[in-house]
Amino acid sequence: MNSKKIIASSILNSDFSNLAQQIRFTELGGADWIHCDIMDGKFVPNLTFGPVVVQAVRKITKLPVDVHLMIKDPDALLEKFIEAGANWITVHQEEVVHLNRTLTRIKELGAKAGVAINPSTPIKSLTEVINLVDLVLIMSVNPGFGGQKFIQSSVRKIHELNDLRTKTSSNFLIEADGGISKNNIKELANAGCDVFVVGNSIFGQDNITAATIELKNMVM
Ligand code: DX5
Ligand code: ZN
Repeated sequence: MNSKKIIASSILNSDFSNLAQQIRFTELGGADWIHCDIMDGKFVPNLTFGPVVVQAVRKITKLPVDVHLMIKDPDALLEKFIEAGANWITVHQEEVVHLNRTLTRIKELGAKAGVAINPSTPIKSLTEVINLVDLVLIMSVNPGFGGQKFIQSSVRKIHELNDLRTKTSSNFLIEADGGISKNNIKELANAGCDVFVVGNSIFGQDNITAATIELKNMVM
């Protein structure tokens, strides 16, 4: 059972012209991880950044860097992101055909391996890899953009995943991503969520440090 709750600040909607300062502000508020959203304009209808920016994040912070790959053919780029300094790499179940192979490869390359599922993908699609993963990411919005509305059925999925974790005596982390705010973070924590990816509710606020502190206090 994992008791420590983790705030993973998502830089997607931060001010990239002041990235070092923005990361510093959320660190001061007690952020635990920095979450990087990699989008290719194909797997999702938006385009962000690649290993070069992850490498810059790696230089800015000592916190674990959590890389969420929303791209076609993530296998081709695993090494590049891990070389750039990613500590955690999460791939999507909907995209990866040989999930067992990909997750094993991430671990061989020295990173922690995560698998993500979209809102329309059921928990049961993960049963065969559940003993292999270090983390399962439940998307609580359709991936692609920050600032979207939280999909409420994600809470039930987290309950279900938490039950599966207990039943299989596994110790992977449960991460939720999308639309997380002070209106739902407590409910997610109670359902068994360990890692809370937060974009707009941190970087969209006037005081990034205060916003981080407030959310962290709600799950401690
Ligand atoms: C969405 C990304 C999220 C996003 C979350 O596809 O995976 O990590 O940055 O942003 P908010 O918290 O604004 O929904
Ligand atoms: Zn993400």
